Amino acid sequence: MHSKKIIAHRGVPTLAPENTMAAFEKLTDFNINWLETDLGITKDRRVVVLHDDDLDRTTSLSGALTETTYPNLAKASAGAWFGSEYAQETVPTLEQLITFLNRTKINVNIELKAVTGDHANELADSLVAQFVAALDQIDPSIRVIVSSFSPVMLYKLKSRKADVETAVLFEQHTFYDDWLLIMQALDAKIIHPEDHGLTKAKVTMMKDHGYEINVWTVDKIDKANQLFNWGVDGIFTNIADAFPGMQKQSGK
Ligand code: G3P
Ligand code: MG
Repeated sequence: MHSKKIIAHRGVPTLAPENTMAAFEKLTDFNINWLETDLGITKDRRVVVLHDDDLDRTTSLSGALTETTYPNLAKASAGAWFGSEYAQETVPTLEQLITFLNRTKINVNIELKAVTGDHANELADSLVAQFVAALDQIDPSIRVIVSSFSPVMLYKLKSRKADVETAVLFEQHTFYDDWLLIMQALDAKIIHPEDHGLTKAKVTMMKDHGYEINVWTVDKIDKANQLFNWGVDGIFTNIADAFPGMQKQSGK
């Protein structure tokens, strides 16, 4: 097993539709022990696994997630866009995700997506409250990192549960010299920078401040090895299955 974290981004999205139970189950075909996934909330306050704010790209519906009720969402396909054999896949609920984690004992980075729209604050509160309650249902042997690009979501989370491991996501164009202030204000011990624009000097600076560093999204093994040599602790990748050591040996 790899000593650095190879974190399967949205499951194994080259083999099954991203952020579906089928994409998560693919991890179990390999020696992949870290999953990254994203959470959002429906109009009627159901916490579900979805990357985008809207349903257009990855489901058979269209429109904003926060304008869609769960009974309608549950009828939609989350896999037909990927291939007809995945047409039965639906948008997973937080409960389904937790059941999967508890069965497989796979470690997880759960990304809380920012909530937008007229009821953003109310819905974000509900998402975080339900998520905090759900954390208690996760087997304690599983490491859980909660990340967000949104300081609001991380602030709400820390206000409800101070001892959760949190990570701040930065894009290349949002990483300024106030990064340390943001990390300290949010009481985060883990930083998730974008790979574009990341340099050895920046990695060293983050490490000098004691932060765990997980970089997104790295789909080249050479690039991942360079980052690990710089001192990065983990990478998010769409090709976790292709990394050395991830293939299960037959008969084992
Ligand atoms: O958490 C790493 C990565 O997933 C962040 O970007 O847009 O793929 O959720 P995104
Ligand atoms: Mg994500």
